[in-house]
Amino acid sequence: MTQVEERRIATGVLVVGTGAAGLRAAIELAERGVQVLCVGKRRRDDAHTVLASGGINAALGTMDPEDSWQQHAADTLREGYWLGDPRSVELLCREAPAAIDDLVRWGAQFAREDDGRLSQRFFGAHRSRRTCFVGDYTGREVQRTLARRASEVGVAVRDDIYVTRLLVHDGRAFGCYGFGVEDGSRWVFVADAVILAAGGHTRIWRRSSSRRDENTGDAMRLAVDAGCRLRDMEFVQFHPTGMVFPEESAGTLVTEAVRGEGGILRNAAGERFMERYDPERLELSTRDRVALAIYTEISEGRGTEHGGVLLDVSHLGRDIVLSRLPRMYRQSVDLAMLDITRVPMEVAPTAHYSMGGVWVEPETHLTDVEGLYAVGECATGVHGANRLGGNSLAECLVFGRIVGSEAARWSAALDVQMRNPGSIAAAAEEVDELLGRRGDEFARPLQRAVRDLMSECCGVVRSEDGLQAGLTRLDEVSERSRSMEVRPDLAGYADLAHAFDLQGSLLAARATLACALERRESRGAHTRLDYPGTDPLLRVNLVWDRDGDIARERPGEPSQAVAALAGGPEIDTAGRLLE
Ligand code: FUM
Repeated sequence: MTQVEERRIATGVLVVGTGAAGLRAAIELAERGVQVLCVGKRRRDDAHTVLASGGINAALGTMDPEDSWQQHAADTLREGYWLGDPRSVELLCREAPAAIDDLVRWGAQFAREDDGRLSQRFFGAHRSRRTCFVGDYTGREVQRTLARRASEVGVAVRDDIYVTRLLVHDGRAFGCYGFGVEDGSRWVFVADAVILAAGGHTRIWRRSSSRRDENTGDAMRLAVDAGCRLRDMEFVQFHPTGMVFPEESAGTLVTEAVRGEGGILRNAAGERFMERYDPERLELSTRDRVALAIYTEISEGRGTEHGGVLLDVSHLGRDIVLSRLPRMYRQSVDLAMLDITRVPMEVAPTAHYSMGGVWVEPETHLTDVEGLYAVGECATGVHGANRLGGNSLAECLVFGRIVGSEAARWSAALDVQMRNPGSIAAAAEEVDELLGRRGDEFARPLQRAVRDLMSECCGVVRSEDGLQAGLTRLDEVSERSRSMEVRPDLAGYADLAHAFDLQGSLLAARATLACALERRESRGAHTRLDYPGTDPLLRVNLVWDRDGDIARERPGEPSQAVAALAGGPEIDTAGRLLE
């Protein structure tokens, strides 16, 4: 047993993650009078949520009065290739307007029309304008608003803790174990319920819209080690437009709002190529189609010097660009020395969003473990095979509130909370073992090896041979990680965090490769060169467990009203296929 002194904190409900989903859950708990503590590894004013740029969806009908939550649900299910859970999707769309009301009441400064209505912009594949925005800084404003509200209602936050393990006894969660990122101090947090809101795994691709050390798959490892299953891991959204140069900024998000405001995509020959792939919706087609179209243009030799295509907003005029896309203007000047009011950007697909994640009950977001809830990008159920832009912030807000109320209910009903010293000791030993490991491997190069293999073997386009090769390479990296030395130094315990991140990445990569191999069809964001068609028999969610077994689950059916608006379950693949 470890000799290291651990500090202990007890709270009512523990939230792991300080982004929008975690903070929204914590606010709900605090407003219900439940003692709540949020712990996370990133400063609360710099959580991944701040990168969400273009907007948040709710069928408010401020611009297009015919819009309805049912139509929002129909669009979400249809464009998710019928793999979203209809119960989750309908709940999301019904509750999204109330989520916007909350944000406005708490002071969020959304863009408004001259008469005071909230402005709403088009995002890809929505049938109405339903995306509320704050220029292209929407995520930052949402995060700031939530952080301010959390502080007003007395939410305690520790955003200097790396959580290494969820504590479980007899199938019931009772807290988590972690260490201080600065000083390596050890912490045991005990609680009646735990809410996991710690993000996805898209940083395990070389080009990613996530920053270093975020979205490394740590939430998925925490959940699986606690006894949860993962679902839909093969569905990783490649956002069509990430920066391609300079190399060190490659992957940085170029928001869909650029196309929503009228940006035009062209190949190196100047062709508006979306006319060939989706002549009706053009640049505002679904993300999977636009990403595949760009991938095809580049791989068939019609790309630009830096290996991208062109995205042009110069025709919109300087005023529109500066007022509606200020972040893109600044980002292009700062990172690429480009004035986008005059010259086009160069863009290519970038790993952006984990549509799969921890298996949850559709309505409550309870996981396989009692007292453990998952929410936000680490959870699954809403997006199916392709996510509509703007739905993720809405999901964080809507399901954040729901898991907060569910956890409050669970906590209130609990007579006794059993705490198991054995689980705590095992968590401590895990940290000790990593710190004691000796060898000639280090976490950073191994993380790079994972990113390389995922990019080369499991990118926008996949095949049996490539995925098998990916699994073989992953075995090699896992083997090397046994000789990984962890070296905290005077600057802190970041190296220990990287070592845990690597373990999360290895697990998330394995689940993704295995499910991508198992899905022998093309659907949404999952394109198989060797299985180009969509197989109706595979209208199932793949559920992966710790032993590597994959089960199939059939999603339910939507309500009649939503089904009617979605226009039937057939899937249109025209223009989607590689030429
Ligand atoms: O393009 C964007 O602004 C991203 C939005 C989203 O992923 O929801």
